Parts: sequence; structure tokens; C-alpha cells
Amino acid sequence: MRKPIQQSDSEVPVSIYRKDYAPPNFWVDKVEMGFDLHPIRTHVATRLFMRRNPDRSENDLILFGEDIKLLQLRLNGVDLKKSAYRLTKECLTIVNAPDEVCLEVETTIAADKNTTMSGLYVSNGNFYTQCEAEGFRKITYFPDRPDVMASFTVMLRGDKDAYPVLLSNGNLIEQGDLGDGRHYAKWEDPFKKPSYLFALVAGKLVCQEEKFKLQSGRQVLLQVWVEPGNLDKTQHAMDSLKKSIRWDEQRFGLELDLDRFMIVATSDFNMGAMENKGLNIFNTKYVLANPRVATDTDYAGIESVVGHEYFHNWTGNRVTCRDWFQLSLKEGLTVFRDQEFSGDLVGTETGRAVKRIEDVRVLRQLQFSEDAGPMAHPVRPDSFVEINNFYTVTIYEKGAEVVRMYYTLLGHEGFRRGMDLYFQRHDGQAVTCDDFRVAMADANGRDLKQFERWYSQAGTPRVSAQGHYDGSKKTYSLSLTQSCPKTAGQSKKKPFHIPVAFGLIDVQGGEVPLQLEGDTIVARTKILELTRESQQFVFVNVEQDVTPSLLRNFSAPVILEFEYCDEQLAHLLAYDSDPFCRWEAGQRLAMRRLLNLVSAIQKGVPLSLDILFLDALKKTLIDTSLDPAFRELVLTLPSEAMIAEEMKVADPQGIHQARQFARAEIAQYLKSDLLQVYQDNQTPGKYSPDALSAGKRALKNCALAYLVEWAEKSTYELAYTQYQDAENMTDRMAALLAMLHCSSALDKVYRKTRNQVLLEFYKEFQNDALVIDKWFTLQATAPTTDVTQVRQLMQHKAFSMGNPNRARSLIFAFCNANPAQFHCADGSGYEFWADSVIALNKLNPQVAARLARSLDRWTKYPKAQQTRMKAALERVAKTKSLSKDVAEVISKALAI
Ligand code: TRP
Ligand code: ZN
Repeated sequence: MRKPIQQSDSEVPVSIYRKDYAPPNFWVDKVEMGFDLHPIRTHVATRLFMRRNPDRSENDLILFGEDIKLLQLRLNGVDLKKSAYRLTKECLTIVNAPDEVCLEVETTIAADKNTTMSGLYVSNGNFYTQCEAEGFRKITYFPDRPDVMASFTVMLRGDKDAYPVLLSNGNLIEQGDLGDGRHYAKWEDPFKKPSYLFALVAGKLVCQEEKFKLQSGRQVLLQVWVEPGNLDKTQHAMDSLKKSIRWDEQRFGLELDLDRFMIVATSDFNMGAMENKGLNIFNTKYVLANPRVATDTDYAGIESVVGHEYFHNWTGNRVTCRDWFQLSLKEGLTVFRDQEFSGDLVGTETGRAVKRIEDVRVLRQLQFSEDAGPMAHPVRPDSFVEINNFYTVTIYEKGAEVVRMYYTLLGHEGFRRGMDLYFQRHDGQAVTCDDFRVAMADANGRDLKQFERWYSQAGTPRVSAQGHYDGSKKTYSLSLTQSCPKTAGQSKKKPFHIPVAFGLIDVQGGEVPLQLEGDTIVARTKILELTRESQQFVFVNVEQDVTPSLLRNFSAPVILEFEYCDEQLAHLLAYDSDPFCRWEAGQRLAMRRLLNLVSAIQKGVPLSLDILFLDALKKTLIDTSLDPAFRELVLTLPSEAMIAEEMKVADPQGIHQARQFARAEIAQYLKSDLLQVYQDNQTPGKYSPDALSAGKRALKNCALAYLVEWAEKSTYELAYTQYQDAENMTDRMAALLAMLHCSSALDKVYRKTRNQVLLEFYKEFQNDALVIDKWFTLQATAPTTDVTQVRQLMQHKAFSMGNPNRARSLIFAFCNANPAQFHCADGSGYEFWADSVIALNKLNPQVAARLARSLDRWTKYPKAQQTRMKAALERVAKTKSLSKDVAEVISKALAI
């Protein structure tokens, strides 16, 4: 699949193409590895048992390797002479290898110098690995590609005191003393796996463990490993793991296939977590929690990421990807599964809807914007330069929406039939997105050929709807038209197969039974299948004029356009039985006003909000029949980023001002109701992260954030009191956020208290890295924090560029979540961004490339700002030794 590439500093990035895929020349049946762990020089001895792939005519045996030192090569017991192989920076080729090969490779690794957090690296004195996507080649020479699946046996040796714990994939089959202050552990993974799922962990760690009985009656050992001192924060992860195991048994009939399942937490990690077979490695952010240090959002994040990684055991590990272009095969599907898991755990219908709305919000804010920018790519990309740049919201979140559309089209049972067939056909294989789609189609006797376009075409489709009620015929006709904007390399798009879930609401707010012309079935929600560019649907027996409820539960990842009038939106917000559309109606009302406010600010005319809107919000706020969590979602205005997406030319300062004005107006209008809601939604007693309590806290804290906009001493003191009395981090953070992020005039008066509170907070939590991350983020995103202050915060003794969580907490938070300051007129934000990308590039290309994407949408800003952004992009582009990770992102941004 991957041609050896020679990289030099100045070279244009080399693209890898999906169409060039070819199976490997050799398969690997068995791998035996021995590690002698030492931070400056870890010795790795590998024995690979390989055999020629009869389907291939090429004789060369190709292995990848990067940043490792090759000591020895032995082929079938004979030392290989230099002339028998070719060695480049990235590739080892053994020419004319025999049909059966036992290759012995010895390499050494300087793990302590590895700041990339890919391959074998050291964190706080412990060893960890990260092999997805192409990190295994930084450990030894290997055909490091996911279609090569092999059995692994791993022997770990190391100092007993420094590395008392030695872990790898699968089962521990032997351990013992080596006599010289060292010991060993031998691990065997009973399942064949691609090299990206390899893992080892060694060091000073402690664990919470539990025996757990599977549905079949088999007992398994579950462990959560953390650094000493963190055992008081592992219970929630353990609970989440047990729930995940149960859920996969019950919902998909999938059982844990190992006797032992381990989770290890590390504070140095590039992403959220990694699904290594039997040995998941996690960012501490998605493991450690107790009420003192973790918020409701943290608790929910842990539950879903523990679920996500566990679910990969079947969707990703047992059935894996043929090549990295198929990444969404495992990621989209597994995100869908973790979303369903979280929804099912909440249980209630509105609880499920709240989760759905939160997921849609992420998709729209991040993925729609990606799809409209220079990094737009299909769910199954056609090419890439650096695969690490393609762990994107498109692959994950849009990929999950694509899987959800099968679910919507085929129904609960139909989807399950498709999953069953997928495993029946492909267990133990490395397959493609097409294989998944065909299993879904075959299991249900459906033609899903056109559905393939969801994988091949990038860009967010637009569906525009028009409705017409004919009182004499008692019919309602709905016309739907689809289009999709062009994206890089794709100028013309063909129509998608789009499920549009649809309902009709009558004047009284009741639901109209739906019956399509020529059809006998009557339903409350109808899944309309839009497959052509334009289609019309006629509903009969509609007794009176109605309001359409469109794209219920967000049935497709599209932008839906319908010319609703304000009254219709208020009607839907009050009555729609579909909670998603109900929320959506409120967001549409709010967005319309926010855009008007921005344009009023630009024109310098007076600002105001209308009663219709304010009353609609008020009704929702005080409707105690609604879930608190749902009310909080309705009361939360579209984010500044969402507003920017809706504008041709973004105006970050105008948007911020408009949103703050709206917040202050809402706070004034709902004054007493907000106070009432604040009091009614207290959660006294022992902290519990369950959805109802978390929802109450969310609503109460949303009320508090509005209340401080009054600019009155009383409400500011309410926040300060909540801060001091808080018995959990959710309430503590929310109070601090209210105090730091409010825009009221009194804010200045209280600046002293504010700074003092920040100091106290730091003192109290300085030994808790995850809390200090929050402390940095809080400041990085405060509307009063400018570039100079962020640069000052970087000088703080707790700041570290090398720790990804810390870099994200300050630098990413400022560049991505404080738009009014980041886009300040003098361009100093962009200078700061370029400095940071360049500094990170040297340490950690993966993380640097993520930050590099903060300027993706540079053409969306006024000309003067564009010039400054372009200059910053060009400065990064010209940097010496730019990683291909950063180079790809920057060159795509500049190519627009
Ligand atoms: N497969 C991981 C997940 O989605 C993602 C991941 C973890 C990853 N670490 C990584 C991807 C490092 C690229 C590089 O669960
Ligand atoms: Zn994943």
C-alpha cells in the first residue's frame, strides 16, 4: 500500500492514494518479541515467522521502520549481509526473500528522547506505547499495516524497583525473577491482531481490580491501572467498563473474548484513549474522577470513552480495517455504538434526546466546519499525506452519522441483522467500508448502492424543503431538493440517499397522523427517502393547516432549509413531540436574532430583542414538565463558532458582543424565573453523576451564568458563595466560570476577588494535573484574557509545552475557544499561534498539526485579517524541519 518515500526538508508532501492499495507480498503468522527495558536504550529482539502471499508476484519483503537503530538481521538462521537488503530512512527491503521466512531483528530505542508520544515512550518514569496508526514501526522493523494480522508473544524484562509492573496484550503466561535485580513477564495474545493494536506498559503502577461474570458464565479479571495516589479516582472507570461489557452482550450479543481486560491511565497522551487488544491505554482525562476533581461532563466523557474503547474489541479488533482509508469502518461504527451506549444508559426518552442533541451540536460546530474548509475529505478518504491528520471529526462523527442512517433506514432489528452478518462474514479479517455496507444490504434484502456516496463524496449536503397545504383536497405536499457544495477535488456531486424523518404538527400542537398518497400505513413519524435531486411527497387526510417537523432526531448529517416564520418556530418549540426538532426550533429563533444583532452592531444601530423570542424561552425555562437537561439546552444560545459559520464574513468581536447583549437581555427579562430555577434545581446530599442530577446542575448553573449578567452585587455574591460552598467540581467550576466569564459592568469591581479566587483555586488543586488544566482553560477562554496574558500564563511554573493536555488547556483553548481575543485586529493572536505551532512541531508533530488547523477557515474573515493570517501560515510553512503532519495541514490551508 505504502511506497517507500524519501523525505527531505524542502520536499512537497507525498500523498498516498487509496486506489494504489495492494495486498502485502508476505504474511506474518507469528511474532515473538523480547524487550529489555531501559529508558535510554531499550533492546528489542523480534522473531517474525512469515510466508509468501501466493496472490502476489513480487519477491521483495518490505518492512517499515522509523527512528530506531538496527543492530542485527538474521534470515532463517543466517546473518544477513548488507548486500541482501536495502535500508532507507523509513523502509527495510529484503530482496528476493524465500517463500518461508523466519526473520530475526534486533533494534534499540531511545524511549526517553521520544517526545512524540508515538511508538515507545517514557512518561513519569514509566514506559508506554502508542502504535496506532503507524507507531509500531518505531519499535521494530515490521510490515506495519493493518491488513497484516499475526499472533504475538511478548517477553518483558526490566528492573524490579523501577518497573515492578510489566504489562502487554492478552494473557500473562509466565513471570519470575532474573536474579540480577531484574524480573520478567511473558504475555501471549490468543487473537491475531494488526501491529497497531500492540501495547506494552511498564513501571510503577497500582490497580483496582475486580472479577466479573460474563453472560455465558465465564469469569474475567478487570483491572484499572493508575499511578500511585490515584486509586481514589478509578471507581467510575471500573463501573463504566462493567456497564460496557453488559451493554455489548445485551444490545449486540457480543461477549468479551479474553480472560483479562486492562485499562491503563497516563497523563502523557496525544488523544483520548487507545483500544490495544486487552490493554487499553487512556489519557488520564478519561479515567480519573471523583466528585472533588471531576465535573459531570468529565464523568460522562469517561463513561463514553471507556465504552468506545471497549466496543472496539469487536468493531476494530476482531474485525479490523484493510487499510487506513477505511478508518471510519471502525471509528464511525464505534462512535455510533458509544453514542447508543450512553443513550441507553440514561434510559428515558428525553434523556436519550439530550444526548442526541449534544452529539449533533458537536457535529455541526466541528464537522460541518471541517467539511466547508481546506481539510474537507470524504468519510473514506481517497488520499492522505500523514494518516494521523485523518483522525478527524469527519471520520469519527460524520462516520457515526452514516452508520446511524443505516439504523434509521433499516430499523432496530434490521440493523442488528446487518451487524450479525458483518461479524459472521468478517470475524478475524481486515475489511473495507464496502464490506460493511454490503452486509447491511444483504442481511435486509435492500439495495444500498447509492448509499455508497456517503463514503465517497465530501461536503455537507443541503436539503431545502417547501410545504404546501391544500385545504380543498386536504393534502399537504412536501418538496425536498438536495445539493452539495464542491470540495477540494470534487466539483460535481451526485445525489445522496438521505433519510428525512418527518412529522406534522397541527394548530393545537397535536401530531397529525401521516398517510402518504397511495399508501395505507399511518404513522406519526415517517422516514422519507430522498434519493433524487428533487422529490415530492403528498400526505392525504390532513384536516387543517400544519407546521412541518423536519429531519426529526437529526436523521441525516445535512443542513435543512425551510422558511419557517417566527410563529411556526415558537409553535414547534412549544409542542413538537420530537425533542430534537423542538430544541432546533429554539435554536433557529435564537440564530435569527443573533445574526440580526451582529448586523445591527456593524451598522451602529440600537440593539434589542423581541418579546416573542423572550417569551418562548421563558415558557421553556419554567416548564417543569420538561427535563432540566433539556431546558438547559434550549436556554443555551448557539455558540460564537456556530454563529460565525452562518456568516459569509465572520466578525468575531461583533459576534461576541451580540451574544453577550442577548444574554444580558434574557437575564433581565427572566429575572425572577432564573432565581426560582436556580433554587429549585439544587442537588443537596451525596454527589451522583446520574443524568437527572447532572441535568439539574446544568440548568441551575446555566441560570447562574445568566444571573451574573444582571451586574448586581447580589447575584455576583451568589456565584461567590456557590464557589466557596461547592461540594463537587461541577458546581465549583460553574461558579468560577460565571465570575470570570460574565461581561457585566460590576465585573471590574470584582476583579480583585476574582484573581484571589484563582490563586486559592490553584493552591488547593496544584497537585491535580487535570484540575490545573481546567484552571488554565478557564483563563484562556475568559473574554478579558488577551494574547499578552496568555503568553504570561505560558511562563507559569505549571505550564509545559511537552504535555499535550497542558498545551491543549492553554494554547488550543485560546486559539479555538476565545475567538474575539484570538482574532484581535493587530494579528498578535496569529503570531502567537505560529510561534506555538513551530514550538510544538519540534516536540510532537501530531499535536502541532492539530493546532495548525486553528487557521483552517482563514478565508472566512475580513481582508485585513486574512492578510495577517496568511502571513502567519506562510511563516510556519517556511519553518525548517517541518513535520509532514504540520506541512500537510498548512499546505492545504494555503492552497485554498
Ligand atoms: N483508535 C483510537 C480511538 O479512537 C484513537 C487514537 C488513540 C489515536 N491514540 C491515537 C489515533 C494516536 C492516532 C494516533 O479510540
Ligand atoms: Zn476509536
